Amino acid sequence: MAAPTSFTAREVEIQELENNYLIPTYARYPLVIDHGRGCWVYDLEGRRYLDFLSGLGVNALGHAHPRIVKVIREQAARAIHVSNLYYHPYQGRLAHKLSRLADMDRAFLCNSGTEAIEGALKIARLYSQEAKDKFHVVALENSFHGRTLGALSATGQAKYRTPFEPLVPGAAFARFNDIEDLRAKVNEQTSAILLEAIQGEGGIFELDADYLRAAEELARRCNAVLIFDEIQCGLGRTGEYFAFQRSGVKPDIVVTSKPLAAGLPLGAIIAREPVASALTAGMHGTTFGGGPLACRVALEFLDILEQEHLLEHVQRVGAHMRACLEDLKDHFHFIKTIRGRGLMLALDLEFPSRPLMLEALHAGLLINSTHDTVLRFLPPFIIREEEVDRGIRILRKLFASYKPAPQV
Ligand SMILES: Cc1ncc(COP(=O)(O)O)c(C=O)c1O
Repeated sequence: MAAPTSFTAREVEIQELENNYLIPTYARYPLVIDHGRGCWVYDLEGRRYLDFLSGLGVNALGHAHPRIVKVIREQAARAIHVSNLYYHPYQGRLAHKLSRLADMDRAFLCNSGTEAIEGALKIARLYSQEAKDKFHVVALENSFHGRTLGALSATGQAKYRTPFEPLVPGAAFARFNDIEDLRAKVNEQTSAILLEAIQGEGGIFELDADYLRAAEELARRCNAVLIFDEIQCGLGRTGEYFAFQRSGVKPDIVVTSKPLAAGLPLGAIIAREPVASALTAGMHGTTFGGGPLACRVALEFLDILEQEHLLEHVQRVGAHMRACLEDLKDHFHFIKTIRGRGLMLALDLEFPSRPLMLEALHAGLLINSTHDTVLRFLPPFIIREEEVDRGIRILRKLFASYKPAPQV
């Protein structure tokens, strides 16, 4: 069922309230979501939309997964929050599980991706602080690590950085997949090398395994902390627990967040010793991070991932989806490239992708437009091949009739 071309009075009221009273940080798409079930979301009038975006990579189990609903109900009736001054049964278990999955030693739980990046950069600072001037961070051009000042300082995109300058000093940006450029930028003053194994917001660009290995070798040589930002590509999105794992590289810190608590806010810094223990009591903290509700849900999410064999499922359905996108590319010459792996995929077009994204929404399919010409797909891990086919049929129809606005 297609989305409305005009809105009901209630939808207008909701939109006006936001327009009048919210600080306008987002240019919202024209849709008021009421609820969701599985890979579908529903607007206020009951029209449904196939979700190829998962709330930007968060709803890996789709909406209203019965096991998640059950543990939220149970735990909400017991304790939603307890202060980090006390123990509770789930934080240690989650830290243990994440450490095991990443082959590391310890974890810190917080509330978001950017908060986890901040903490990781602070750990690197502390770990490096004995050496003079060793506070520099080498990240990549086109990267995205979050919106707080520290994370923004390490984000390699002028459009996000420039309005907030001066930022935290000491960041340098190396060219993507260019080992020589990385070698030129990393030195004894580098405290951290920060990489996304697959750049997400930047348009789905994957680092070569050789590049990740070169980064590891450089980090060891210069005693820098190697941090992988797996906030978008991690925890199953590529069909592996972490996208870097296929390279065999051992980072010092892995940062993760989006799908971790199935929609509740939760981020994690997972670190190896001795880097992990650079942070000691009183050096860092968070009021909400690692509360019993979010941690218990995250444990349930990780159990579901394992028990329902979702990594294998992501690999299988991801391969199917990629094949469907290849087929689209064969038919539509304006598709320049297909990128990504697992259920983290993108089409790069010859023209701006936002109008097409809006047309897809009107046709009942939620996708995302990033980096001007890229259509990004981050469907829930539970998506079935039939649902992929359905979304692809919508895209095929749109592509067949789409006339891009003339470029001026
Ligand atoms: C790779 C990456 N790092 C960091 C962030 C920031 O995470 P958050 O929005 O939870 O602060 C994002 C968010 O999209 C991301 O994709």
